[in-house]
Amino acid sequence: MNTEEALLIDAGALLFNKSSYSSQLDLDLAKINAEGLIEAYNDLGYEAVGISEIDLAGGINFLKLLAEKSKFPWISANIVDSKNNHCLFVPYIIKNKNGIRIAITGLAGTGAADDTNKNVGYKTLGWSEVLPRLLKEISSQTDLCILLSSLSPRENEQISKQLPSINIIIQAGRYSLNRTPLLINNTLICQTEKQGKYIGQLRIKWGKNGRWAEQTSQSSQNPPADQISLTEGSSTYENDFLALDSSIVNDPIMEKIVAQTKTKVNAFGRSNSSYGELGDYVGSDACFECHSKISRKWQKTGHARAYTTLVEKKQEFNLTCLPCHVTGVSLSESNRSFLLSLPARLYNVGCETCHGAGKAHTIAPEKTKMNASPGAFICLQCHTSEHDGAFHFEQDKKLLH
Ligand code: HEC
Ligand code: HEC
Ligand code: HEC
Ligand code: HEC
Repeated sequence: MNTEEALLIDAGALLFNKSSYSSQLDLDLAKINAEGLIEAYNDLGYEAVGISEIDLAGGINFLKLLAEKSKFPWISANIVDSKNNHCLFVPYIIKNKNGIRIAITGLAGTGAADDTNKNVGYKTLGWSEVLPRLLKEISSQTDLCILLSSLSPRENEQISKQLPSINIIIQAGRYSLNRTPLLINNTLICQTEKQGKYIGQLRIKWGKNGRWAEQTSQSSQNPPADQISLTEGSSTYENDFLALDSSIVNDPIMEKIVAQTKTKVNAFGRSNSSYGELGDYVGSDACFECHSKISRKWQKTGHARAYTTLVEKKQEFNLTCLPCHVTGVSLSESNRSFLLSLPARLYNVGCETCHGAGKAHTIAPEKTKMNASPGAFICLQCHTSEHDGAFHFEQDKKLLH
């Protein structure tokens, strides 16, 4: 296979295995896995990935942060800023393969819009609001148009019937299975089993007339030399599902990414094994004697006076404000009243906010390790777009201590 000529794309629903998590700890652990997946997709050379409601389980800010780390664009024409309707991700790209100009656009399933708890700052527009306008804009620049869709199969069929200039729909979702491509009008609807168990492969000869042949071939008798090539007559395709089973030798780089991700999950789980139990939070003063240099630097930052800020604003009894201006209390904590009797050692955004509860480590530092490199998802619990629109993890983490 000549990978230069192949186009490696994914329709989405890959980061999480559900669209909402009931506990903050489960979500935080899932986010570490999601960060590992991005590293893997970067290495595999993916060229475009669609977005589904499931990819938004960590919130819009988390996905935007991952998009910054991704070497490929996250594509969605219908996830927009709820204030001004501007696209929050890349609405489409145009790639040239073998002289064929290929447009790739994406639509997220409406599930994301229904969940009003979660989708702060964005909304998901319906396909009919977005797609006709977008096709008008790009049709003169392209020969072949692909839609990465996590809409329902029914909606994808409606799109095929109404918009024949979409030539391929790659359908993603929680319940996907390997399906023989379905030709409706001039659109080929394709779907591959979920969770990366298979790679769906389409070998395409794209006709200059831009239409699929009525009887398009599915046998592998005469495979074309390239994955996508241009031909004089009508367009034809062949498809395969390549099983990624245990007979395939593991790639060393992937093995390394998987091992590193598992180590991070484990370290995070351990440092938070007392999630929510305030008694295991000793307060930042307890770290001073052994980490004096770091501690003195932290003292000069806003985190060390976050509670004082509330006092100055006469808001230190406001249960809405407190979780983000103190230590050891998760925002998702349902019983917030104990915030009013919080011990003074846990005022401000202390060391343990990011490194985990420190009691055991303070007693035996070599035996009980702390989380040495807290991830962006910890910051994003407080540095939400509402409270800090300009948050940038890589830059901001240099200012901590
Ligand atoms: C528990 C909530 C919380 C978490 C978690 C959190 N922050 Fe903050 N952060 C705040 C608050 C509140 C302020 C403003 C404090 C003030 O000035 O009163 C702040 C301020 C800052 C500032 C400005 C610092 C300064 O000196 O003025 C930076 C930079 C920052 N945070 C980065 C981060 C990074 C990076 C992370 C993750 C590693 C993080 N924060 C995690 C709540 C949090
Ligand atoms: C979701 C978390 C969160 C909540 C809830 C929250 N804050 Fe903050 N707050 C932050 C973060 C993060 C910053 C730092 C923003 C930055 O660095 O730009 C901040 C900064 C501030 C600052 C500016 C500090 C300075 O001097 O620069 C004030 C004042 C403040 N918050 C007051 C409040 C009040 C009052 C409430 C409740 C009505 C509140 N906050 C609720 C996260 C939160
Ligand atoms: C807002 C989050 C946050 C707070 C508060 C915070 N840290 Fe950190 N700390 C980090 C991050 C993130 C790193 C990793 C930095 C990196 O990878 O560049 C780190 C790294 C460290 C390291 C490892 C440094 C190394 O060289 O390996 C130590 C030790 C540490 N912090 C101690 C502390 C102590 C002690 C405090 C309180 C006085 C504190 N931290 C407060 C986020 C925080
Ligand atoms: C009695 C001394 C002592 C106290 C108190 C202490 N530490 Fe440490 N800490 C250490 C030593 C020693 C290491 C290096 C351990 C190693 O390399 O095996 C360390 C390492 C760390 C690291 C790097 C990751 C790791 O575990 O190796 C972080 C983060 C950290 N400490 C945070 C804290 C925080 C936060 C507190 C306060 C809650 C704290 N420490 C209190 C001695 C201490």
